[in-house]
Amino acid sequence: MAPSPDSAPPSRRPPPRQQALRTALIVLLLVAVAVAIAALRGAFGIGGGSRAGAIVDTMQANGLHAGFRRAHARGLCVSGRFIASGDAAPLSSAPLFQAGESPILGRLSIGGGSPVAPEAAAGVRSLALAITQPDGQQWRMAMNTPPVLGVGTPEAFHAQLQAMAPDPATGKPDPERVAAFQRAYPPNPALKAWQASYRPSDSWASTQYHSINAFVLVDDQGQRRPVRWAMVPEAPFAPLGEGPHTDDALSMEFQKRLAEGPVRWTLRLQLAEPGDPVDDGSRAWPESRRTVDAGIVELTAATAQDGGACNGLNFDPLVLPEGIEPSADPILHARRAAYAESLRRRARETFQETAP
Ligand code: HEM
Repeated sequence: MAPSPDSAPPSRRPPPRQQALRTALIVLLLVAVAVAIAALRGAFGIGGGSRAGAIVDTMQANGLHAGFRRAHARGLCVSGRFIASGDAAPLSSAPLFQAGESPILGRLSIGGGSPVAPEAAAGVRSLALAITQPDGQQWRMAMNTPPVLGVGTPEAFHAQLQAMAPDPATGKPDPERVAAFQRAYPPNPALKAWQASYRPSDSWASTQYHSINAFVLVDDQGQRRPVRWAMVPEAPFAPLGEGPHTDDALSMEFQKRLAEGPVRWTLRLQLAEPGDPVDDGSRAWPESRRTVDAGIVELTAATAQDGGACNGLNFDPLVLPEGIEPSADPILHARRAAYAESLRRRARETFQETAP
C-alpha cells in the first residue's frame, strides 16, 4: 500500500533556489574544466582539436608518410660550424655572436610533405640550423627561400593550405576553392614580385634562405632591435639545368660539392626601423635597411636523414638563446605548436614501427 502523503518522510531536497544555485555552480565548474583543458591542448598543440592539430591534419591530408615530418619531409642532415665575425655582438648578448666558433647541426630540405618528392622540382628549398653556444643554449632556426609569406596570420595560412590541397578526384587543387581563397586573401604583391624574379639554382649551396618572421635582438643594456635575416650563399648562382634530374639530384649534388670542400653562407641580419611591420611576415622591409654580417655558416658534412642526427630534432624557431627573442608575429608562435605536433606524430609512428 502506498504511504499516505501525511506519513511520507520529510523531503531532504534543498529549497528550489539553493538547488538552482548548486546546479549553476556545477555547470560553471564543468565549463571551467573544459576551457582549461582546451587552453592546455591549444598551448601545447595537442590533438586534432587544436589549431596546430588541425593544420597538421591538413598537411597530411595529401598523403600520410608515417615517421616523416609533416612539412619539408624530404631532406638531408648536415653539420658544420658558425664562425661569428663579432660584428653582431653589440646588438645581442648571445655569446654565439662574439667572434669565435659554435657547432652546427642542420638540415637541408624541400617544401612539402612527401619524403620521395623530386628535389629539383620543389618550389621551396629550406635550411634549418641548430647552433649550440658554449653554455649549451641553442639557437634553432628554419628558413625558406622566399623572403616573405603569402599571408600574415595562422588562420590565413591554414586557409591557404586547405585551398591548395589537391582534390582527391583530380589530384589538383580545386579551382573554385583557390578562387575563394584568393578573394578572401588577394595575392601578396611582395611575394609575387619575388616569385617573378626567382630562378632555382643548381644547388642547395647556391640558394639564399630567409628567416621571414622577425625576431628581436637584445643587447647587454637591454636595448631591443627587431631583425630578420638571410643566409647569403658564397657559391655563385648557376641556374638549375633543364634536366632530366634524378629525384635525389640536390642531395647528390650537395654530397659531391662537399667532397671538394666546405659550403658557406653569410648570416646577414637586417635591422628594422621604427614603423616597419615587425609582426607580419607577409610584409617586406625596405631593402635600404641597415644590415650587419654576423658571421659565416660553414657546412662540412652531410648524411642521409634516415638514422641521421637531425632526424629527431625539431627545428622549433622559438628555441632561442638569451639575447634573441621572438617577435609577436602570430605565425611565428603558431609554428612552435605545429612543429611540436608534427614531431609528436612522427615520433609515435617511428616508435610503433620499431617496437617489437
Ligand atoms: C603557420 C606557419 C607554418 C606552419 C604551420 C609550419 C609547419 C611546419 C611543420 C609541421 C614542420 C615539420 C616540423 C617537424 O616535424 O620537425 C615544418 C618544418 C619546417 N618549416 Fe614550417 N611552418 C610554418 C611556417 C614556416 C615558415 C614561415 C618558415 C620559414 C621561414 C618555415 C620553415 C620550415 C622549415 C625549414 C622546416 C623544416 C625543418 C627541418 O628541416 O626539420 N615554416 N613546418
